[in-house]
Amino acid sequence: VDPVIGLAAVAPLPAAHGITQAVILAAGLDARGWRLPWVQDTVLYEIDQPKVLQFKTATLSANGARPAVSHYRDIAVDLRTDWPKALQEAGFRADHPTAWAAEGLLPYLPADGQDLLFDRITELSATDSRVGVEAFGPGFFDGDYLQRRREQMRQLEQRAGQDPDKSDDVSELWYSEERADVPVWLAEHDWHVDTVTAADLMQRLGRGAEEDEVALPRTVFVEGVRM
Ligand SMILES: C[S@@+](CC[C@H](N)C(=O)[O-])C[C@H]1O[C@@H](n2cnc3c(N)ncnc32)[C@H](O)[C@@H]1O
Repeated sequence: VDPVIGLAAVAPLPAAHGITQAVILAAGLDARGWRLPWVQDTVLYEIDQPKVLQFKTATLSANGARPAVSHYRDIAVDLRTDWPKALQEAGFRADHPTAWAAEGLLPYLPADGQDLLFDRITELSATDSRVGVEAFGPGFFDGDYLQRRREQMRQLEQRAGQDPDKSDDVSELWYSEERADVPVWLAEHDWHVDTVTAADLMQRLGRGAEEDEVALPRTVFVEGVRM
């Protein structure tokens, strides 16, 4: 889970809606494929950069972990390239409903890259597909807020015995620019949409209630169902 914005552990389970094809975009170190009780015969595709997926799969495997999902397929491609082609070449079926997850990803895409991502997801989504997105809440890119988060990260790194001066600040990789509002975009493209703020979701799940305000991600979880 991304320490700054990710809450990957709480996205909806695809199997709850009878869907047996899932795609996690920018999966990172997400380990749902290894630890969730997937419905028999589900195929899970994970897309991320080669080094990230290699590190994850090798580390899990070296520790004796095996995927819990029936079919795991890692797609080691950059999301700025033609990833739908790579996905389909790996067996993805656009005529089957899909559960998509895109968490901790959008800040790394420019505004037009975000539009392209959702165009492609929509094009590949049969009726009844679902998408779970971690999107921006109010004040996500506020300088003050980011500065306080950075400070908090430094403290956490120090507590973990790491030298904060030697670690990268991921927010330097973010595209802080005007962009489409994800729930609005999805609603305009034939998705039925529900949203919940990360803060409300954390409170509902009994997580983070004792943290101060700076620990609460300014993100919104968006769930879309393809009509
Ligand atoms: C903050 S992590 C999120 C990981 C996971 N989804 C989560 O919520 O915990 C961001 C991930 O996006 C991936 N990423 C960013 N830009 C990417 C791109 N252009 N192509 C593929 N992966 C990308 C990074 O490699 C990293 O694993």
